[in-house]
Formats: sequence, C-alpha cells, structure tokens
Amino acid sequence: MKIQSLRGMSDLFPENLAKWHFLESKLFNIFNSFNTNEIRTPLLESTELFSRSVGNSSDIVNKELYSFLDRNQESISLRPEGSASVIRAIIQKKQEHEKHKLWYQGPMFRYERPQKGRFRQFHQIGVEYLGFEEGVSEFELISMILEINQSIGINDYTFKINHLGDAHAKENFCKSLVSFLKPNANELHEKDQLRLKSNPLRILDSKENSTIELLKNAPKFQDFVSDESKEFLEAIVDAFEDQCDIQIDQSLVRGLDYYTGVVFENVSKELGAQDAFLGGGRYDNLSKQLGGKDMHSIGFAIGVERVVDLLKMGELSQKIKVGFIVSAEQISQKTYKIANDLRLANSSIILETFLSDGSIKSQLRKANKCECSFAIIIGDEESKNKQAIWKDLRGDGGQEILSLQELINQYINL
Ligand code: HAM
Repeated sequence: MKIQSLRGMSDLFPENLAKWHFLESKLFNIFNSFNTNEIRTPLLESTELFSRSVGNSSDIVNKELYSFLDRNQESISLRPEGSASVIRAIIQKKQEHEKHKLWYQGPMFRYERPQKGRFRQFHQIGVEYLGFEEGVSEFELISMILEINQSIGINDYTFKINHLGDAHAKENFCKSLVSFLKPNANELHEKDQLRLKSNPLRILDSKENSTIELLKNAPKFQDFVSDESKEFLEAIVDAFEDQCDIQIDQSLVRGLDYYTGVVFENVSKELGAQDAFLGGGRYDNLSKQLGGKDMHSIGFAIGVERVVDLLKMGELSQKIKVGFIVSAEQISQKTYKIANDLRLANSSIILETFLSDGSIKSQLRKANKCECSFAIIIGDEESKNKQAIWKDLRGDGGQEILSLQELINQYINL
C-alpha cells in the first residue's frame, strides 16, 4: 500500500511556491522598511504555554492542539500559532522592559476539520510589536497591513475591527451574556449550547440562525467598553476609511482568549467560508499571564495559504529564461565557468542548463519546451574560437555569433 500524506497537510511543489516566494519577498522588504526584525522559535513547545495563552476554553486548545507525551512523559504540543512562543522567548531572555518589533514565519498546526482554505498544517507570517501601549502602534500596524495588501495586489477585502475593552470589560460582558443566554439555552443551536459552557464569547461569532435570532436581544459588548476605547476605535476608522473598506464589527471577538483592546481581521468574499486571511489585535496581559513582567503587545498574522489563493498569477513578474547548451565534447570546467560568469553578471535571469549529454538539437528542443526565450550554444567550433551562438527562440529563431565578452554584455542588458 502506498503511504499518503496526513489529512489536511499538503505538499508544496515548485509550481505552487512561485506565489509564496513573491509574497515573502514583498513582505520581507516591507518589514525591513518598518525596521521590524525576524525571530525564529521552535515548532514544539510545552502544552502549558498554549493552555495559559491561547486559553483552555478556546477551540484551539480544547480540541485542535497536536499534543503528545515525549519520551520524558512531558506534554508537548506543535504550535497552533506564533504569538505565545514569541512572548515566551522574550520573557525567557528577560527583555520584557525593552521595545521589540518582530516578525516570524512558519508552519502552524491545528487539528481542524479540513476543508477549502482550512488545513491542519498551515503557514503564517506574523508581526508582533512589544512594549508599545495603545495608541500609535495600532496606526503603524494597520498602515503596514494596508501596505502589504496593496503591494501584493489585494484590493477587494474588508478590514473588520472592534475594541474588546480591557480585561475587566471582557469579564463583565461575558458574565452578563451568560446570565442572559442561560435561561434561553434551549433556543441556542446545539454547538452554541456547548460554547455557553466553554467559551461564551464565541457564541457572538455564530452563523446559526436560531442563535443569531436570540442574540438580537442579548447585552451588547459596546455597553461594557469605555467611551475612551470607543473613541479610539472611531479615530482609527476615520484615519483609514479613505484607504480601505474598514468597518467596525461588534461581533468580532476572535478565537484566542488573550486579546484585550483593538482586534481586527481582513476578510475576502473570494475565499468562501474561511474568509479571513489575516487576524490580530492587542494582548497586553499575555506576558503577565505567562509569568513575565507587564509588556504591552499587539500583532497580527497572515494566513499564507489563503493569501496565496487570492494572488492573481498574472501579477507575478515573469523572469527571462535562457538555455545554456553545450555540446557533449565541450562540457568541462571551462564551459561551466562561462555559465557562472553569466549568472554573476545578471542574477535576475534564469540560466537553465540541461544536465544531460544529449545532442545540441535535443537540448534546443528542451529549451523550447521549458519556455526559454533565448539559447546560448557552445559547440566544438565556438569553443575553439572562444565564441558562443546567441539564438532567439521567440520568433523566427534568428541567431548571431558573439565573443565571450559580447555574450556577457548581451546577457547583462537583457
Ligand atoms: P488567527 O486568526 O488564529 O490568529 O490566525 C491568523 C490567520 O491564520 C487567519 O486569519 C487565517 O488566515 C490563518 N489560519 C488560521 N487557521 C488556519 C487553518 N486551519 N488553515 C489555514 N489558515 C489558517 C492567530 O493565530 C494570532 N496568533 C494572530 C496574532 C498575532 N495576534 C496577535 N499577534
């Protein structure tokens, strides 16, 4: 029997990865321009890190963690997200009092029911700003997000935003919601009845009609959030509404327990049911919760698979490809030195070599097949004269003979 990959875990082939590389290179440039630096943390962490951060009552910890006992009988988990590990790393380095602008990328793992846009291994590229209190950092991160979306050509999306108040507001609202819903629990959808016990705030996210109906008369989050918080939220919307479709969404609570303050998501109709391609917010209490000192924290993560799904292939700049063809007798260090010199002279061009000793004719066929625009041919005659044939493969196949220096010049100016 053939061995298959695990459900919800995909292989990525070169043809898929072109878009990933495009996205990564755009993002790395933007992070650089915001003086935001990379951090790498392990894929495996103690399970406790996630139960104390993402939250015991969250779906992620409740039923989606990949947890197991290691050989030392310690419970460890594959990370379901990146923020908790970043905060753990900073606490461990005793740097909570400093300011940090960090980004990270890599695979995350959640044992979810796989469907379009939802995987058990997926990838995030995230940003965390640590040590910055509510205020300018919200504006800076939203500016960064708008710049990211614009630079990769994502224009048709909604920027949902909400303010969860401080931890106190969240707790009071939660109590009041539960006391409203409990007597009417049988009107809630089955799934939401379970949430009432485990994570009542998530009921606000429900897509079930019976629940939506009941919520119409439920206490509203905004009644528990201070005027100051509401004004701040409105100031953000004012600042960005001419640049994107930014909307306050009072039902936005997010699936991770650690948030307080501003939370947001970017959603696109093009994605179907799993429509969020970016999520984040402020989580000032997490450092304390994990045993560290107080540290203001805000960040976001992009779901790479979902963003890649939104990218239009046409926007990717196609690199020019040139075939490097050497007759069997001339394959030597010397001819490979010519290939190296060309690559050094212009690294933006793909120089394809056909690692075979086939005839020049068969290599030319391969060059055409893999869509080379030009071919450089070095046969016996050319090698003897220190020359190369430059052949245009696009139109009628015109060709010229060049000295090696002319060849380099031609290649630089492509
Ligand atoms: P999150 O909303 O759970 O937030 O995940 C961020 C993004 O990851 C989502 O918007 C989505 O695009 C993608 N994503 C999540 N689960 C899956 C899945 N199963 N398959 C495919 N894509 C998925 C966080 O993880 C927070 N740590 C973000 C954050 C950073 N908040 C503050 N700093």
